[in-house]
Amino acid sequence: LYGLETERFGRNIHYYESLGSTQKAAHQLAHDGAPEGTLVIAEEQTSGRGRLGREWHSLSGKGIWMSLIVKPDLPPQKAPQFTLISAVAVARAVEEITGITPEIKWPNDVLIRGKKVVGILTELQAESDKISSLIIGIGMNANHGQEDFPEHVAHTATSLFIEKGEKISRAALIQCFLKYFERYYSIYISDGFKPIRLLWESYAISIGKRIRATTVSGVITGRAIGITDEGVLKIEDDEGIIHHIYSADIQQT
Ligand code: BTN
Repeated sequence: LYGLETERFGRNIHYYESLGSTQKAAHQLAHDGAPEGTLVIAEEQTSGRGRLGREWHSLSGKGIWMSLIVKPDLPPQKAPQFTLISAVAVARAVEEITGITPEIKWPNDVLIRGKKVVGILTELQAESDKISSLIIGIGMNANHGQEDFPEHVAHTATSLFIEKGEKISRAALIQCFLKYFERYYSIYISDGFKPIRLLWESYAISIGKRIRATTVSGVITGRAIGITDEGVLKIEDDEGIIHHIYSADIQQT
């Protein structure tokens, strides 16, 4: 990537015309000892995957489909924080490249005008109580036209092109993301999660609003009151009980 402004991230890039999933390839590379900062990018994915086992539609040439290998010296419980660090870096990069301030929906969606432009999937390789690698998968709808989205997401997805009205440079956006990721990651390592939490909350849409969280163990309705310094969502229900949500689908009610 010409003009890269990072020290470590994106210095080692594996680029493919077509892959099943950059996530899968990055898992293999990490397992085989690829260094921190290694980035896998594909022009097209034939079996891109999203959160909760969903399929991720990854059209050729229009989007940014990439997976970043990160190797923090931390316990596995810290892994979810990296989804939030990544979301803040993506939001900040989208803002810088397009001039549009996006919103973050906990834990991993980046939206513009309520529609999804970016999805993030953080996966973990751990040995006992230590992270060996985190694979951060990022899918950005960059230059899609409305007709490029499959029927079932047409009403909930958008692209930077649709929102801005002009094509964006994918290389510039990737570089900008890496710059912010490296910056926020080093802030996180030196000062902890709190500064990231504050940044995250400045982009968050649901905080203070009534939401419905669908979790594996049931549905919780109440007011989203923030995230903890672990990156866990807190919801206060109508009885005043505070629930800690580790994984869920969120809807505003
Ligand atoms: C989600 O919102 O459910 C997360 C979507 C993550 C998609 C990206 S695209 C690059 C990487 N490779 C994959 O197969 N998935 C992630």
